[in-house]
Amino acid sequence: MTVSADLYLTQINAATSTAALDDIRVALLGKKGSVTELMKTLGALPPEERKAQGAAINALKEQLSAALDARKASLSAVELAEKLTKERVDITLPAAVSAPGALHPINNTILDITCLFAAQGFTVASATDVEDEFHNFDALNFPPDHPAKAMHDTFYMQDGKLLRTHTSTVQVHVLQTQKPPLRILAPGRVYRCDSDQTHAPMFHQIEGFVVEPGIHFGHLKGTLERFLSDFFGIPNLPVRFRPSFFPFTEPSAEVDIGCDRSGGGLKIGSGGDWLEVLGCGMIHPNVLRQCGLDPAVHQGFAFGMGVERLAMLKHGIPDLRAFFAGNSKWLRHFGRAPLGGLA
Ligand code: PHE
Repeated sequence: MTVSADLYLTQINAATSTAALDDIRVALLGKKGSVTELMKTLGALPPEERKAQGAAINALKEQLSAALDARKASLSAVELAEKLTKERVDITLPAAVSAPGALHPINNTILDITCLFAAQGFTVASATDVEDEFHNFDALNFPPDHPAKAMHDTFYMQDGKLLRTHTSTVQVHVLQTQKPPLRILAPGRVYRCDSDQTHAPMFHQIEGFVVEPGIHFGHLKGTLERFLSDFFGIPNLPVRFRPSFFPFTEPSAEVDIGCDRSGGGLKIGSGGDWLEVLGCGMIHPNVLRQCGLDPAVHQGFAFGMGVERLAMLKHGIPDLRAFFAGNSKWLRHFGRAPLGGLA
């Protein structure tokens, strides 16, 4: 029996798709393929013929395999080119997208608060998360070995650096580099060695401060009362200034807002109960002096608030850890599109 490759080669080269080519491969070289069937005829041949015929069939197999591979390569290239043309997307075309994304409530709260203070003439400033003791403590009037330093559980790093425990560091950076009058708002991350349902090792604060000649506690009160009432959307929100202590302010106060805890819930507004929302005070003369300002000329007030805490209170979020869990359902529920739109 003679074996001719021509017929098979014609079939292979006539295949118009890789799928059709695969069928041909099976029909030729598969378990029941024609060439495989040819092999099976060898056993019936006399030995001298078997050898020559076997070699011929093997050569045919190799020739067909090579032809199949070559055809496959060229068909694949054509198919890929066709696919690329067909699926081409003009990414420069403007498209209306229904955006399923939403801003995280932390970003939203920072945006809201920034806008409210922008309306009172504040501009945004920032500094780094990695700080030194000078900016985090010393320049803010913490005496070298004062126990006040232990008020914060600080993450210290090897080279004497630390992760800032509060955004009050921005007061020092700004006062050293910019000239009053200043109305500054500084949102940012802060770090404390603390973790439970209401404390996270990293959280966000917003620092605010004003330094201008003639600033007094009345300005502080007016600024914060207006902000709190706007932020919670409650006109005439009860606000109470309770004496407190911070090394960098004198006098210092903690600010409470009115709320109602009757019935086990928490309702912000009137009701006879109080809820602490931020710390504040008149900038200590030592801080002004450290930054090269004369306290006889310049006075200022400062305040600091926790972003997560304010967001929890405003939106009724019970667990701080949810902010950092990245749960998409939660994010869709509490998230909001930028510019006040709906997500
Ligand atoms: N830095 C203080 C804190 O982290 C908050 C604060 C800021 C208090 C500014 C007074 C003035 O607790």
